[in-house]
Amino acid sequence: MILLLAIAVAALAPATAFATNLSPIEALGKNLFFDKNLSTPAGMACAACHASQVGWTGPDAMTNLGGAAYEGAVTGRFGNSKPPSSAYGGNSPILSLDATTNAWTGGMFWDGRATGLTLGDPLAEQAIGPFLNPLEQNNATAGVVVNKVEQSSYANLFRSVWGSDAFSDVNAAYDNIGRSIAAYERSNEVSPYNSRYDAYVKSGSGLTSEELQGLALFNGKANCVQCHSGKDFTDFTYDNLGVPKNPMNPFYSELAFNPLGASWVDQGLGGYLKTAGYDASVYEPALGMFKVPTLRNVGKQSGVNFPKAYGHNGYFKSLEEIVHFYNTRDTMPWPAPEYAATVNQTQVGNLGLTPVEEKSIVAFLKTLSDMVLPHATVYTPHAPSTMYRNHHYTIYGYVKPMHSSGYYLVQLNFYLKNSHGVYVYHSHVHARRYYYSSTMTKYKASVSLPHAGKWRVRAMHGDAGHSTSYSGYDYITVK
Ligand code: HEC
Ligand code: HEC
Repeated sequence: MILLLAIAVAALAPATAFATNLSPIEALGKNLFFDKNLSTPAGMACAACHASQVGWTGPDAMTNLGGAAYEGAVTGRFGNSKPPSSAYGGNSPILSLDATTNAWTGGMFWDGRATGLTLGDPLAEQAIGPFLNPLEQNNATAGVVVNKVEQSSYANLFRSVWGSDAFSDVNAAYDNIGRSIAAYERSNEVSPYNSRYDAYVKSGSGLTSEELQGLALFNGKANCVQCHSGKDFTDFTYDNLGVPKNPMNPFYSELAFNPLGASWVDQGLGGYLKTAGYDASVYEPALGMFKVPTLRNVGKQSGVNFPKAYGHNGYFKSLEEIVHFYNTRDTMPWPAPEYAATVNQTQVGNLGLTPVEEKSIVAFLKTLSDMVLPHATVYTPHAPSTMYRNHHYTIYGYVKPMHSSGYYLVQLNFYLKNSHGVYVYHSHVHARRYYYSSTMTKYKASVSLPHAGKWRVRAMHGDAGHSTSYSGYDYITVK
């Protein structure tokens, strides 16, 4: 009884201290990011390959264990690399070559091809790529995407952010789609800097001795900080670690898009610079180099032992494995590098770490996972205390989302108790409604329960896979 009360109170307490409030442009970007209609055929949103529950990268266990490249909107068409996180990219500068260090810095994508030179913002420029990529959302033209947004339920939000004639110039509207998504990716919903590590930086406490040892190694003996530096854990430069090919990459057999087949080599930054028309003296030293990715949320999993893939081609299947590679690349029989000529021989490959030290670095990396914030207050449903089986009844309740707008759905879950008081039957989802407002909204469902017994019902609120919150329970006797 005391426990139940506690749940009910938790469900009613306004959790505003944790709430993120999106500005209109961020809320617009969120609608765009999660809109499954913005592909041809419809069905694939950005979130399909960048899901918050795994740190804004690929959420499919089987894909991560295999080729790690995701299937696009068209069945059978796969990309050629692993989705990096779409969070924490907002501080990457415009791609440029530093004349003194001779290092390329900035841009987005593993190879830097979203340079930022067109829109003045690499992140916004990245965001307009996938919609037209035949291996991703596969729309024929920018006009197709803009038209879908104009027909969407958030078209007025688009007008209120970008002006009443925001749809009249297709190219301007398309660029503004990119800018809106970038604003959402920079928002404190996507890039909140609220991991246990951040709490440690503020308070000076909260990490275990193993995690602290990992942090010291990260900054010292293991060299990690030489590239994964600053608050985003990247210096936005490029390097070749000597990562082997991932032979399971489906791109090797996609001959229509990859005429080289199994002999294809991802040339990374140098490949892009070559296509962009740079001289061989410029692009050759950059062949096989990939962008230093953020390490925030690398350990974030959806459930215990959820597999993730690491590296540009997803060759590594765990943090343990990639850290072991950094430590032993040159002392153990690892497969040959995907591109050998430019491999970094000085900072990585033979670190002399003990197994305990490797383990503590992994423990430290796992402190970089962001906390999940509640996104709505869901109130306990009101149901008739007695119902007859297979008759329809109306059940309702209230939900109060915490930000200005976005996708919200509420579903009701029912469980049946047997005579021993054990829950034996879980009904299917009974209500599904979407909301776009931050006001208190009534949800309602007509339900009929199939078996006699004592049922309990609660409402669950999901925010496009980003977070879930639950209400307290109500009880129903079904006769
Ligand atoms: C079919 C899967 C897929 C879809 C859909 C998709 N992405 Fe990606 N995303 C990837 C892959 C793969 C990469 C890396 C590609 C590369 O570097 O060549 C990537 C790269 C990125 C990056 C660059 C991160 C970095 O550090 O450079 C961002 C940001 C991003 N995507 C955001 C988005 C947005 C916004 C959308 C929707 C408009 C989207 N993605 C749709 C797979 C996908
Ligand atoms: C010389 C620069 C450099 C150093 C030093 C370095 N890294 Fe990296 N790191 C990179 C680059 C570049 C990539 C992407 C390489 C690729 O995929 O080919 C990467 C990728 C990663 C990834 C995969 C992230 C993802 O999203 O796929 C992890 C995890 C990682 N590094 C952790 C570490 C740790 C831990 C250390 C220290 C032991 C370290 N790095 C040292 C440059 C560096």
